[in-house]
Amino acid sequence: MTMQRKNVLVFRALPPDLLDRIASIHEVTVADPRRAEELPRFRAALAEADGLIGSSFRIGAAEVDAAPRLQVVSSISVGVDNYDLAALGARGITLCHTPGVLTETTADTIFGLLMCTMRRLPELSALVREGRWTRNIGEDLFGWDVHGKTLGVLGFGRIGQAVARRAALGFGMPVVYHDPFPANVPADLAGRVAGASFDEALARADVVVSCLPLTEQTRGVMGERAFAAMKPGAFFVNGSRGAIVQEAALAAALDSGHLRGAGLDVFAVEPLPADSPLRTHPRVTPLPHAGSATHETRRKMAELATENLLRALAGEAPLARYDLTATAA
Ligand code: 8YV
Repeated sequence: MTMQRKNVLVFRALPPDLLDRIASIHEVTVADPRRAEELPRFRAALAEADGLIGSSFRIGAAEVDAAPRLQVVSSISVGVDNYDLAALGARGITLCHTPGVLTETTADTIFGLLMCTMRRLPELSALVREGRWTRNIGEDLFGWDVHGKTLGVLGFGRIGQAVARRAALGFGMPVVYHDPFPANVPADLAGRVAGASFDEALARADVVVSCLPLTEQTRGVMGERAFAAMKPGAFFVNGSRGAIVQEAALAAALDSGHLRGAGLDVFAVEPLPADSPLRTHPRVTPLPHAGSATHETRRKMAELATENLLRALAGEAPLARYDLTATAA
């Protein structure tokens, strides 16, 4: 198949060798719309773009309407909530993403955040770093055991299962999970995890982890009622999407002491606004959306997204197409 040179808009920085690979085949414009000075160039290139590659910027109906030639969107992410799926589907635009390559790294981050939150490790590290370690630490700085505690996993897809594996096989934690869709329990987790309703998972868990995708069904699902359904003294960890959580309800559950702590890698607004009470809350362990942020994994994501883009623009099947028909149904 002869390759027609097409217009590609790169809206998130790519490793130079991957950018060169795309530019060797297509006309490339690099413009990050999150930078005000690059927005005009982004908009101009969008009007001529046959393909997009990037992440962390909403490609909504307005952007799709402003891209009359658009055939392919290749997201450097597994989550697709930044894309108007109905608008893409209506235009027959191919959406690609990067599942699988970030599963283990993201699960590592989530479990590491769980450990940090329950054992209060960042606080203890700051005590040493700031020269405040002047005597043996007392009960006021003790954390809570992780091993043997019951883990509740909301969302039992690849990442939820990888988190459950770390808990069950590595820390002897009973795991109860809830997923809106039937989950295939991997053989190595059989007998170690139990499915439950949403409310039951919340009620049984000592620590609840959200690995839920952001959809209209999951938006705000962790609100006042959900946090009240959790055990007194329980912990909440969010490694999925900030908008899953009604943040005022979480802050209230922490302020009241109903929840002992929260580890949050994601927030409704990112970067987290300086005036957010969650940024400095003493019971919150915050991270800057670092789930997949390792050198190795972000490279693999960029490679997969690049391959998806080039295959789809060449009329071939991409390696990881997001099924928009499931959304349309
Ligand atoms: C970030 C993620 O999107 O893959 C996802 O869905 O949330 C993260 O990997 C990151 O910005 C990827 O580029």
